[in-house]
Amino acid sequence: MSHTLDPQPLSATPGAPLRGRLRPPGDKSISHRAMILGLLSQGRTRVEGLLEGDDVLRTAAAARALGATLERLGEGRWTVDGVGIGGLTDPAEVLDFGNAGTGSRLMMGVVGGQPVTATFDGDASLRSRPMRRILDPLTRMGTQVIEEAAGGRVPLTLRGPKEAIPITYETPAASAQIKSAVLLAGLNAPGVTTVIETAATRDHTERMLRLFGAEVLVEPHGPEGHGRRISLAGQPTLRATDVVVPADPSSAAFPLVAALITPGSEIVIEGVMMNPLRTGLITTLLEMGADIERLAEREEGGETVADLRVRASRLKGVDVPAERAPAMIDEYPVLAVAAAFAEGSTRMNGLHELRVKESDRLAAVAAGLAANGISHRIEGDDLIVDGVGGAPPGGGTVATHLDHRIAMSFLVLGLATLAPVSVDDGAMIATSFPSFLPTMRALGGRIGA
Ligand code: S3P
Repeated sequence: MSHTLDPQPLSATPGAPLRGRLRPPGDKSISHRAMILGLLSQGRTRVEGLLEGDDVLRTAAAARALGATLERLGEGRWTVDGVGIGGLTDPAEVLDFGNAGTGSRLMMGVVGGQPVTATFDGDASLRSRPMRRILDPLTRMGTQVIEEAAGGRVPLTLRGPKEAIPITYETPAASAQIKSAVLLAGLNAPGVTTVIETAATRDHTERMLRLFGAEVLVEPHGPEGHGRRISLAGQPTLRATDVVVPADPSSAAFPLVAALITPGSEIVIEGVMMNPLRTGLITTLLEMGADIERLAEREEGGETVADLRVRASRLKGVDVPAERAPAMIDEYPVLAVAAAFAEGSTRMNGLHELRVKESDRLAAVAAGLAANGISHRIEGDDLIVDGVGGAPPGGGTVATHLDHRIAMSFLVLGLATLAPVSVDDGAMIATSFPSFLPTMRALGGRIGA
């Protein structure tokens, strides 16, 4: 299990308006996938704008342990010399994924579909997260689970078959991680592997597989076409390519909400990926009355990106439909913060998947709101936050449970409450947004130890 970082208590002090421009780090989902498809392809993949957060560095280390040669040329600029499908080697050591759910689950798909044996482990957060959702389809594809911790958790050891069995699999939860693990295992299957999802989730794996030369067919699924049927032709030759990583909308969410709730703020967030399967937060904030302008829309690395001009806004409460959850699954903690400032209540429907993130995010958000005097309730899988139409009290200390997004969300809260807000541990912010503190301080945000 990975070395546990010392807890890093942090506090945010309200008052100062946010001003200026920033570029958030590279998208975490795309960064993981660039390392993984680099490993599985032949030739040299060049990556620009890679997120150099702890989660992605763990995936890079795992790719290296499985046989790839990686080189860091400069900030966010990496090369990956791959081994190709079928060319992986048994790692000499345990693959320690730290806090990274995406890296570990996607790499389980890779290992599970290839004739290699590897042991996966992680920190206390990762050790508590369910892996059955990945192991179930992989077992059907021929993966052997040699060892696992109670309840299908890491540490666990997988051995993949010589060739994976192509399957058709309907995911039991709207999860891009499950979909991706099955597709990655299907790369070594002689035939077509199909994943059916009843609600469309982020499509970065499908897009990047195509970029590397795989044949992937995506069709609408279900009565209203909200779902997808994704078919991958197995055993392609993946060819190394260049990957430009756009800025992460899930990281952009923090300065974005901070500017909306802090009076007098105006910021521009540059190069944010506008993939519609990732922009549910922006849709919701616009419905709440947020002043967000999409400027200079352009294509970067196969994705539409835009600069977002954000001004402090008077927000009103809304009802967020459950169908929108996959497009904003990581953004609910910070939406709950925005909702606390809105006039009227905001109801966020269908949040059951939040219970199995880096922490039980539904419980962590509720506890954080309670600690800061913000009225809210959980009804089944729904969270209702009663906004006060201005600054809520604050003054609390929030338990982050090794969860980067809980830490950043409540620090954002404390930039605009009546009293400062503290978090017990901000160390995990380094997993996804290592430059969060200097970035927020450069905008004028008062966050410190
Ligand atoms: C991710 C998928 C989501 C998301 C995670 C990144 C990905 O998880 O929460 O931060 O890159 O595929 P689920 O697939 O479990 O919803």
